[in-house]
Amino acid sequence: MKETIRRLLKERRAILLAHNYQPPEIQDVADICGDSLELSIKASETDAEVIVFCGVHFMAETASILSPEKTVLLPSLNAGCPMADMITPEALLTKLAELGPMPVVTYINSPASVKALSTICCTSANVVAVVSSLDAPEILMTPDRNLAGYAASQTLKIVHAWEGYCPIHDCLTPEAVEAARKAHPDAVFMAHPECRKAILDMADAVLSTSGMVKFTKTSPRHSFIVGTEVGLMYALQKACPDKSFYLASESMICPDMKKIHLEDVIRSLETLEGQVKVPESVRVPALESVQRMIGIAG
Ligand code: 13P
Ligand code: SF4
Repeated sequence: MKETIRRLLKERRAILLAHNYQPPEIQDVADICGDSLELSIKASETDAEVIVFCGVHFMAETASILSPEKTVLLPSLNAGCPMADMITPEALLTKLAELGPMPVVTYINSPASVKALSTICCTSANVVAVVSSLDAPEILMTPDRNLAGYAASQTLKIVHAWEGYCPIHDCLTPEAVEAARKAHPDAVFMAHPECRKAILDMADAVLSTSGMVKFTKTSPRHSFIVGTEVGLMYALQKACPDKSFYLASESMICPDMKKIHLEDVIRSLETLEGQVKVPESVRVPALESVQRMIGIAG
């Protein structure tokens, strides 16, 4: 199946981008694996005619925002992000009317229609740089309350947080981290900023998914407790075969990130089913907030 995919990619002049949480067989067949920021940048730079996005819906939408002339395929259209579904443009406008005018920083895990109403986007890799770049004392951050709390702790801004969260990261408990630490006392604990404050306070490093891969590669330490989704374990072990990785909790599985199978990629490439296209009225304002983010060093 992998050979078929590589052949079809060539025939279609297509590139396959995979998020770090995708299953191993998808990561292995991809042209590029990465975090949301790396994949957005790649989607803005590629000269391929078709982008096959193995991830979730908002990621394919971002590729369509950046490359409207390209065909963007999400091989399983029902792969969504529950956190992105916790905000709508209407609810954002209501909140802004309550708070008064202020910049809106929107996590890339959001619908295109919300990006279109935002000042700037951010990802887990560049959130501190993005928030610090704004020339305003007070901001609204959507839709992740935990990422907003992290940004507030790392900058001098007053941060109003939207009450959204990632059901997978938000469920990681201090007890689970303590148990992992007890079982692996020499391990470094890395946490994704979508985790709750209590978890981030326990972490030795707070990083995006690719940030974790880079950190473990250069660290002199040999064992790591991983506070993010299970899919990253494969990327970590591949990057550092001689190091040991332990998932902070076995329940950190994102079902949406497991919805794309090799068969879906083949079908999508053969039939061009699963197209994601953002309408121009949304895409143009959304592009501004995504491009502003890309312009800031990660
Ligand atoms: P990264 O941008 O760190 O890869 O995170 C994406 C995501 O969906 C985390 O839950
Ligand atoms: Fe969304 Fe969480 Fe899944 Fe990431 S891990 S795609 S934030 S539900």
